[in-house]
Amino acid sequence: MAVLRIGHINIRVMDMETALHHYENVVGLKRIHEDSDGNVYFKGWDEWDKYSVILTEADSPGMNHIAYKVRNDADLDYYKDRIREYGITVEEVPPGTLYAVGRALKFNLPSGHEMYLYAEKEFVGTDVGSTNPEPWPDGLKGAGAHWLDHALLMCELDPEKGVNKVAESTQFMIDVLEFYLVEQVTVGPDGDIQAASWLSTSNTPHDIAFVGGPVMGFHHCAFFLDSWDDVLKAADVMAKNNVKMDVTPQRHGITRGYTIYFFDPSGNRNKTFAGLGYLAQPDRPVTTWTEDQLGSGIFYHTGELNEAFTTVYT
Ligand SMILES: [Fe+2]
Repeated sequence: MAVLRIGHINIRVMDMETALHHYENVVGLKRIHEDSDGNVYFKGWDEWDKYSVILTEADSPGMNHIAYKVRNDADLDYYKDRIREYGITVEEVPPGTLYAVGRALKFNLPSGHEMYLYAEKEFVGTDVGSTNPEPWPDGLKGAGAHWLDHALLMCELDPEKGVNKVAESTQFMIDVLEFYLVEQVTVGPDGDIQAASWLSTSNTPHDIAFVGGPVMGFHHCAFFLDSWDDVLKAADVMAKNNVKMDVTPQRHGITRGYTIYFFDPSGNRNKTFAGLGYLAQPDRPVTTWTEDQLGSGIFYHTGELNEAFTTVYT
């Protein structure tokens, strides 16, 4: 039984026209479908399932839901029981409720974020196919993102009130969905408050991450690029398109990834993530970052956390 990877994310945008330009011409995703409600679907060129990003026009930015793909249909029954036994309400969603997706499970993480699990999404193949493929396709736009890599969700954290949705959601992902903890940040006078976590269900350093903040929200979703050179080029593309960058090309201490934080026109934070970081394994010792080194964990070169990191999110 296994959760394979992040499947898609549904992001709220306040103006569809500018959002389409951003995700198509800056991030470099392919627009593949618009449904009768006006939701627009995108995929990265290196993804083989039909889509990984859904944009929904709304009055406020943020994330509607995040979805993960499991290996087969029986896994849905397995996880449905586990989620229910953990005390979380889980709903069966009929095939086709999510566009081009089979039956799914819908539930909320302890943090409140809405999550789906599904086993089937329409297969369309990558843009280079799977027979004698070229390394990349012609006609890529913008940063030419390969795939949706991961998301970071903000969870309510208020130690004085005994609220720690980071720890609760992390435990749920481990105990129920069988992710494993790769890295964490611990804070507080005794260093025993888990204020952030990075969890994997594959061999990448993270398939989902949680960071504590005053209220729950959406911190960022990340799109994969090959190399540092691609990160630099992506930043050039952003500058050419007047995209607001939160942090220009930089290395994370945590996960060792090469990164840019930037915003879509509605204020949703996006990220490019390049380089493997390292090969994560379930038996790898958990890396812990202490409160005094948190700046280096997030932005390794400056060692300083910009204030926006924990205060600006949707
Ligand atoms: Fe990230």
